[in-house]
Amino acid sequence: MPHLFDIDDLSPDAFDRILTLAVSPVRPTSASEGGPVLAGQGVALLFEKPSARTRNSMEMAVVGLGGHPVYIQAAEVGIDTRETAEDVARTLGCYHRILCARVFDHGLLPRMAGALDGSGFNVPVINLLSDDAHPCQAVADIITLRQRFGSLAGRSLAYIGDANNMARSLVKAALMEGMDVRVASPAGYDFSTEELASLAQLATKSGRGGTVRSTNDAADGAAGADALYTDVWTSMGQEDERADRLAAFAGFTIDDALLSVASSDAVVLHCLPAHRGEEITASVLEGPQSVVWVQAAHRRTAMHGILQWSIADSVTGDAAT
Ligand code: CP
Ligand code: NVA
Repeated sequence: MPHLFDIDDLSPDAFDRILTLAVSPVRPTSASEGGPVLAGQGVALLFEKPSARTRNSMEMAVVGLGGHPVYIQAAEVGIDTRETAEDVARTLGCYHRILCARVFDHGLLPRMAGALDGSGFNVPVINLLSDDAHPCQAVADIITLRQRFGSLAGRSLAYIGDANNMARSLVKAALMEGMDVRVASPAGYDFSTEELASLAQLATKSGRGGTVRSTNDAADGAAGADALYTDVWTSMGQEDERADRLAAFAGFTIDDALLSVASSDAVVLHCLPAHRGEEITASVLEGPQSVVWVQAAHRRTAMHGILQWSIADSVTGDAAT
């Protein structure tokens, strides 16, 4: 079953397939007798955390494919309180073709997927962000970068900030594309040596010549880069750590000085929401090198591809072959 927990669940071919489907027109499928691929079918969108972009882009992508999105707040179903995550998943599987979820504990996603698979449901699980990963955003980021640069092999990407869920999925996606990736984070908020080695293995697996390295110096990371990327310093669920993080991340703001050491035609990305004056200055976010609104718009483009890929077994048109 094509579940998507993080980017490295995908083969390089599957990753390419999602990117192709994302920018392809909607094709009819015999499964829905000529209608769009999700005609008459539900897609559950289960959220344990807030969202602006992910919820709206996914709802509109589902509608664009002829389906019906149902937004569900975690408190309504009470995961592991009112009933188990497995029972929530199987219940939603009775009504929906796809189960998408934004969760704190990444482990909930394979638990829900395992329950669906084990009970014979043909329902993929898509990660809409967990504490560990944010693959749907990373797909949108690659679409944005490809639109700007064409082939990304050999291009350099500097992620400046917390080695968090966003960084993890972004680095994996960039390595799938053969990019040279630098991750600049303060000590204690960087990837472990073991995780870096595992990411480097992914670069080898993709066979596109990507590289990854970590640094504790923001300027070292940004030097000559084709793209600078950042995310919030305090992610959802880490609010109690905010004061410590503000102190630890001093010097890791993407500001005009840091941007000036990147390539002269570098682009700046941010998954949003942004905190101006923390991880990025207003002048960079609103400046001519920022592509954050293109990136936000491509969240829907990405969802269009991910949804079709996840139900490819029931799509008979060219788009999903
Ligand atoms: N970038 C992103 O996932 O935004 P939301 O949290 O608003 O969905
Ligand atoms: N790292 C951030 C990403 C928000 C889209 C968070 O998890 O809150």
